[in-house]
Amino acid sequence: MSTDSTLLPHPFVRPLREGGVSLISSRGLAAALQGEDPPELLDVRPSTERPLARLPGSLHIPLPELPKRSGEVPKNRTVVVYCQFGNEARRGAEFLSQNGWTRVAALEGGIDEYSRIVDPTVPRYPAGARDRGLVFQQFPRLNSGCLAYLVGDPVNRQAVIIDPGREIDPYLEDLGQLGWRLVAIVETHTHADHLAGHSALHLRTDAPIFVSKRSPASYPHRELEEGSTLGFGSEELTVLETPGHTRDHLTLGVRDKIFTGDTLLLGSCGRTDLGDGSPDLLWESLHDKILKFPDETEVFPAHFGPRHALPDRYSSSVGFERATNEALTQGSREAFLRYMTEGWPPKPVDFDRIVRENLES
Ligand SMILES: [Fe+2]
Repeated sequence: MSTDSTLLPHPFVRPLREGGVSLISSRGLAAALQGEDPPELLDVRPSTERPLARLPGSLHIPLPELPKRSGEVPKNRTVVVYCQFGNEARRGAEFLSQNGWTRVAALEGGIDEYSRIVDPTVPRYPAGARDRGLVFQQFPRLNSGCLAYLVGDPVNRQAVIIDPGREIDPYLEDLGQLGWRLVAIVETHTHADHLAGHSALHLRTDAPIFVSKRSPASYPHRELEEGSTLGFGSEELTVLETPGHTRDHLTLGVRDKIFTGDTLLLGSCGRTDLGDGSPDLLWESLHDKILKFPDETEVFPAHFGPRHALPDRYSSSVGFERATNEALTQGSREAFLRYMTEGWPPKPVDFDRIVRENLES
């Protein structure tokens, strides 16, 4: 079985860092499972997540137990380690490869990506699935390639929605099913490629809308700035100002997740040659803020799709992007500035209209 990075669905793939763990894509795993020597699957998620979804036939050892239970993992077969999104799997695969297993890889994108791309009979986590007490839900919009997020505290039943689209029913359905109160709607920046849903969601839920203090928005809103925090139940989002794609861009963090909007996309970053963007500011935001997070930090952007470098991937980690992202591997600030200013397609025809509408309501 090949665990070559060329199997990744990534048009701008670069070699992984030396000594980094081998990765296998969902499609690569599907092919390997059909092959003559199918790999052993090792699920390293917490036991509470096992009933939500699993790959058939997998061995289950929660990551914290792996050091003392590693004897259960066969050494004479290829082992593919998996979790929900791929980050714990990378840590598990790293542990095994440092301790004598020679054929080991982590499932990039996790069971979430596997179920979307390869096998829809493997269920995705339902709304309300808990990540160590934090509820986290990703809402992909297939027609536009946009991603919105709900994060919530299940004890206090309070949630925040980030970057909602104009079609708000899926968010209302989830909130209704969970019986939760929406306490904040946050826009990471003024979007130019889709009509935002903050006002529609505010009208239905009464939750306040939060945007950067640098936003020229004229609708009623509250301001966030560097160091602001936004509480929901006993959790809180922390705010970083990450200008570059737009001047009003924010990156939001909760626990080990960051919502990077269009500052850091998967495989690339948001363009700076439209509107009030600045490649110099984006360089500083990426290097002085985003890349300061530990490698295992999970990255959740505002977009997916071929226009944003990765057709199938909806989440990543700081470490993976640090090693492979085209914008982050230019080699120098000068090369990055050239990359951000040359070779981009013309300005979309509806750019100004969408920005205007998103700022007015
Ligand atoms: Fe954007």
